[in-house]
Amino acid sequence: MSELREALLRDLSGIRLLTRPDELEHYGRDWTRRWQPAPLAIALPASIEEVQQLVRWARRNQIGIVPSGGRTGLSGGAVAAHGELVINLDRMRQVLGFDPAARLLTVQPGLPLQAVHEAAAAHGLIYPVDFAARGSCSIGGNIATNAGGIRVIRYGNTREWIAGLKVVTAQGELLDLNRGLVKNSSGYDLRHLMIGSEGTLGIVVEATLRLTDPPPPSRVMLLALPDMAALMNVFELFQHRLQLQAFEFFTDLALKHVLAHGAARPLDSEYPYYVVTEFDADGEADETAALQAFEEAAEQGWLLDGVMAQSEAQAAALWRLREGITESLAPHQPYKNDVSVRISAVPAFLTEMQALLGREYPQIEVVWFGHIGDGNLHINVLRPQAMPAEEFIAHCERVTKLLAATLQQHGGSISAEHGIGLVKRDYLGSTRSPPEIALMRGIRQAFDPEGLLNPGKLF
Ligand code: MLT
Ligand code: ZN
Repeated sequence: MSELREALLRDLSGIRLLTRPDELEHYGRDWTRRWQPAPLAIALPASIEEVQQLVRWARRNQIGIVPSGGRTGLSGGAVAAHGELVINLDRMRQVLGFDPAARLLTVQPGLPLQAVHEAAAAHGLIYPVDFAARGSCSIGGNIATNAGGIRVIRYGNTREWIAGLKVVTAQGELLDLNRGLVKNSSGYDLRHLMIGSEGTLGIVVEATLRLTDPPPPSRVMLLALPDMAALMNVFELFQHRLQLQAFEFFTDLALKHVLAHGAARPLDSEYPYYVVTEFDADGEADETAALQAFEEAAEQGWLLDGVMAQSEAQAAALWRLREGITESLAPHQPYKNDVSVRISAVPAFLTEMQALLGREYPQIEVVWFGHIGDGNLHINVLRPQAMPAEEFIAHCERVTKLLAATLQQHGGSISAEHGIGLVKRDYLGSTRSPPEIALMRGIRQAFDPEGLLNPGKLF
C-alpha cells in the first residue's frame, strides 16, 4: 500500500493528494458510519483533465476508484474501505455558465445544492430539487443517486432536471452527453444511464441543469392526525383541492427527537402523526380553499389539530420539525430503510408494515417519516444503547429481508431516493428481477470491464 501511495504521489505530483490518516478517515466515509474507511489516498482534482489523469493512473495500477462529493449519502455509496483511490470533487464547484434562452445552468459537480439554488435565483429562476442536506450535499452526488427530496410531488426527481452531462469513463475518456438538447432522438440516452448509477459507470465532471419559473407564493401548514389511514384520506383531499408543493409526514416519536434537539413545540397537545404541507397560496381564494379543506377533514375525524404559518419565520419553524429529523436521530446510529410503493398501494403496504415492525421490533424505537405524497417512507430503527452495533445490524438485516419481501408483493422499491450503495446491495433482487440485474451487470461490464469504478457498490 505505501509503495503504491508513494508511486501515486510521485506520478501525479501536480494534483492535490491527501494521505494523512485523519484525511483518509474524513474523505473515506459518508453519513453511514458503518464501515471503517481505508482508502489508498484522497485526490482533489481541480479540472476535468486532472480527473482523467487520476482515472488513467488508477487503471494502470488496477486500483478501485470511489467518486465522492459532499458524502451526505445514507447508503454507503461513497465509502472507501478497501484501499481505493477517492476522487473527491469538492474543488470543482464553479458555476460555468447560464443560457437564458434555454434556461440552462452549467455547473461543476462539487457545487453544493444550495449554491445551485442561489445561482438559479440570481437569474429569477429555480432549480426545484430540494432536501435538508442542501448545504452540504453536492450536485454531482445528487445526480449519482437521482436524489429526490421534499418537492418531488411537484417537480419530480433529479433526473427530470438534467439536460446534459460530461462524464469521465473508466478508460479516462470524456463523454459529452445530450449537450442541453430538449429533443434528441438519436438512440440510447447514456445521460439517463449515468443518473442514479452511483458512480459505477463514470464520474460526472460537469452538469447542465434545467431551471424553471419560481412557484407562486405558498403557505405552510402543520396537521395533526390520529392514524395513517386518516393521513391518506387527508392527502387525497388536499391533493384534490390544493396545488401541493410538498406533503411530508412524521410520527410523534420523530417529533420527540426534533424537540429534544432544540426545535420549538408547535401545538399544545401531542398527537400520533403529523404532516407538514406546503401549497400555492396566491391570494385569499387559495387560503380559503385550504381552510375549507382543513375543516372538512376535521369534520371527518381525519384531522385533530393544525396550524397555518403566518410568517416566513413560522413557516421555517414548521419545516424545521420535518427537516431536523435526520440530524436529531444521528446520535442513535439509526438503521435506515428508504422504501417506496405506488401511492395507491400505500394504505395496504402500511398496514402490513406496521404489523411486521411491531412484531419484529417490540423493544426497539422505530421512527417513521418521509415523503408520503410520493409513496416514499423512511423507516429509521434506533440502536438501543445496550445493544452492540453488530448484533443490532444483524437483527435489522433480518427484518430488512422481511420488509423487502413485503415490498416485492406491493411492487415497491428497497431504495426510493438514497441509493443502493453497500447498505441495500443484498436486497437489490427484491426490487429488480434477475433478467434486469443481468442486464445491469452487462451495462456495467460494457462501461467498466475491469470493475474499477466504485467496486462493491450497487451489486
Ligand atoms: C429526508 O427525507 O430527510 C432524507 O431522505 C434523509 C433521511 O432519510 O434521513
Ligand atoms: Zn428523504
